[in-house]
Amino acid sequence: MKIFKEIEPLRAFLKQFRQPAGLIGFVPTMGALHAGHRALIETSVKECNYTVCSIYVNPTQFNNPVDLAKYPNTLDTDIELLEKAGCDVLFCPPHSEMYLHQDHIRFDFGLLDKILEGEFRPGHFSGVALVVSKLLNIVQPDKAYFGQKDFQQYLIVSKLVADLNFNVELIRMPIVREPDGLAMSSRNARLTAEQRKTALVFYQSLQQAKTRLQSGADFEVVKAEIKSICESKPEITLEYLALADTTNLSPLKNVTTQSVLLIAGYVGEVRLIDNLIIAE
Ligand code: PAJ
Repeated sequence: MKIFKEIEPLRAFLKQFRQPAGLIGFVPTMGALHAGHRALIETSVKECNYTVCSIYVNPTQFNNPVDLAKYPNTLDTDIELLEKAGCDVLFCPPHSEMYLHQDHIRFDFGLLDKILEGEFRPGHFSGVALVVSKLLNIVQPDKAYFGQKDFQQYLIVSKLVADLNFNVELIRMPIVREPDGLAMSSRNARLTAEQRKTALVFYQSLQQAKTRLQSGADFEVVKAEIKSICESKPEITLEYLALADTTNLSPLKNVTTQSVLLIAGYVGEVRLIDNLIIAE
């Protein structure tokens, strides 16, 4: 009989029985797939033997019912994109398959789920953690791919995986942008042509803030500058611009060796987020 006192050697031993045919890569999504999602899928296809993608618009992570109702559904073109990208399996469950009860468990990540996105979208990260836990348990992948686009989500999922000992390696993928710099997002499809141009102000703000910080400006000063630029555009409502530590998102006054700028706001009725790593 083999006896294990440590988790990792036990898992490594069990793996040979469970996965004789190779590595499983997993890309969870909510559909309306674009080049950002495709990059995650293609990397999984390169790095793993089987790639599973899920498309599930998870109701428990939407604090705004309008946002949930308006979330784009483009399943046919999503399937085409997945097939072209070499994805092996698509999991697209109905709600009845994912949520048996109205009443479900809630997660508390301390400060990490209360600040930034957590402040403006109460309960959002609890819903993300719940659905990601369910999906990881369902698929049991070796590797799971998440985008830097949702920087705070990546940290939440990292904490979830570490604290609950999920047997998966997380991979953080860079932000895929449109040629003009706008971060790709399923929500961009809801912007009018005019709003689409205005939306670029978020990325431009991040770039300008980075340059100013690197030349020694204090973050509070930079923040005031960016705020006044955003306020001068009628369609823009800035929710936050933050300079934070890349490991735990605690706020920073000046750039350190692990700093990220994060921004969120509305263009008309469409909420967008973006971020720029300064150093890590
Ligand atoms: P969704 O917004 O569809 O994003 C799925 C994955 O694609 C996330 O990891 C996200 O960070 C990544 N992604 C989105 N836009 C990207 C871009 N421009 N460049 C690189 N990666 C990008 O995030 C979710 O869905 C959900 O919260 C989910 C994790 C599926 C749980 O419901």
